[in-house]
Amino acid sequence: MDVNHDPAGAARALLAFWRAAGVDMDEAEAVYAGTPKAQAGTTARAPLPGREPAPITAPRPKKVASAPVDNARALAAAANTVAELRAAVERYDGCALKATARNTVFADGHEDAPVLLIGEAPDKEEDEQGKPFVGARGALLDRMLAQIGLDRQSNVLISNTIYWRPPGNRDPTPGETLACLPFVERLIALTQPKLLILTGKAAANTVLRREDAVNKLRGRRLLYTRDGLDLPVNALVMLHPAYLLRQPQQKRLAWTDLLLAEAWLSELGVARAPHV
Ligand code: URA
Repeated sequence: MDVNHDPAGAARALLAFWRAAGVDMDEAEAVYAGTPKAQAGTTARAPLPGREPAPITAPRPKKVASAPVDNARALAAAANTVAELRAAVERYDGCALKATARNTVFADGHEDAPVLLIGEAPDKEEDEQGKPFVGARGALLDRMLAQIGLDRQSNVLISNTIYWRPPGNRDPTPGETLACLPFVERLIALTQPKLLILTGKAAANTVLRREDAVNKLRGRRLLYTRDGLDLPVNALVMLHPAYLLRQPQQKRLAWTDLLLAEAWLSELGVARAPHV
């Protein structure tokens, strides 16, 4: 789907997407219903930000004197493939969360994918299956990605900033986050994705090393750089599927995020399945 050439089609696809996700569409129908001209106007006004990505450099980390973090850095640096990195994460004992988790949840999807998506932390179902984004959040994420021709089998690799489930789904502590971060950064460096998608505030702030509201970061083309990365990486922040399940009224923002990702992927020439 090309939103610039078929705005009404984009609006219809949006409605179908949210209806299929089980969301009450009454409010959205009211926004998008109307004459074809009004529909076109509505979608054309949706802001697709300019083409020049804004550089966003993850600040040089404060040197944390910590044996687990040093160990994570050494293990991550020694991994030269995604498979080696997965094995390194599985071997690593420096994050206290590992003691209470059932499984290590590293990544799922195509290891040479042009798109790398990073979420926050495994929940109960992910912990049980050892795979990121399963259950209701995973189903919604897969539907969202399918709308822009992305799927785990062919063109997306999905991972998290934390590899073990925090007990009771509490927020990870800064120490737990820092213990996993060298692996997250190594995954980005090894895959050098054409597009890095960060879902939700926690993932965005961890990877970009910021403390911003998600709405300050999403909806913008970012160019992520930091020491040790060969090239700057195109990056986008999107709303998290768990948040959208809790706050379905934010669906229009999520759709805007997807349209921006789609437009950028088209410009980057990333091969995708025809949209469903
Ligand atoms: N499941 C994940 O794997 N990551 C999240 O961020 C949320 C749920």
